[in-house]
Amino acid sequence: MSSSSSAERIVSFSILAIAIQFLFIRSVFSQSQNNAFLFHKCSDIEGKFTSKSPYETNLNSIFRQLSYRVPSTGFASSSSGNTPDKVNGLALCRGDASSSDCGSCLAIAIPEISRRCPDNKAGIIWYDNCLVKYASTNFFGKIDFENRFYLYNVNNVSDPASFNMQTKTLLTELAKKVTAGINNKLFAAGEKNIGKQMLYGLVQCTRDLRSESCKACLDGIIGEIPNCCDGKEGGRVVGGSCNFRYEIYPFVTDA
Ligand SMILES: *[C@@H]1O[C@H](CO)[C@@H](O)[C@H](O)[C@H]1NC(C)=O
Repeated sequence: MSSSSSAERIVSFSILAIAIQFLFIRSVFSQSQNNAFLFHKCSDIEGKFTSKSPYETNLNSIFRQLSYRVPSTGFASSSSGNTPDKVNGLALCRGDASSSDCGSCLAIAIPEISRRCPDNKAGIIWYDNCLVKYASTNFFGKIDFENRFYLYNVNNVSDPASFNMQTKTLLTELAKKVTAGINNKLFAAGEKNIGKQMLYGLVQCTRDLRSESCKACLDGIIGEIPNCCDGKEGGRVVGGSCNFRYEIYPFVTDA
């Protein structure tokens, strides 16, 4: 594990204990520095299902479909069953993850979210390389404002005001690129020379979103830079529909 990522801190809107859990899980389960567990959330809003119920059968069915369909393209959404037992789910791999990294991320994430949220009708789990989300409500195409967390590098830059501005500029350029129409993966990565050093960034949306919604989602999280990672050497805002990450070291695999 690199020193920069081990110095990373997580901030969630919900529970502070997550920070401890994050460090614990990371040391126990992380497969490699490139696919760390980040965060999960079991939703109580949609209620619970019981063992051997139709909901459980439908959930297992979408998990199978996602494991099968996602690795080749990096994204799929899937629904199974009929109301009130209908389950909707999606999975997304990081835009630069190979199909085999994508498949192995899902092979870890799916059993892990089942273990962590054994009977919740809705849940979400994030790793560096993938995200898996499911719910009984149809959330496809809608920006997820509920599920969101921050990660940042504890190290401070020497010139926060200018650094924050450069970060915002880079990520905004990437957000424009993502939604310019040429990029159907809703993923962009890039870098920027900011004088003393380089700045590296990526932005990505789940591909159930239309490109305008993707842009709106990204603009929203980019606006959170002052809250998530003011003057920090690295930062991420990670949501259920879009995320960004920036670092002062290269972290994206060239396609
Ligand atoms: C970064 O700055 C914050 C706020 O001034 C301070 O609390 C923190 O200790 C600094 N971090 C490091 C690694 O020096």
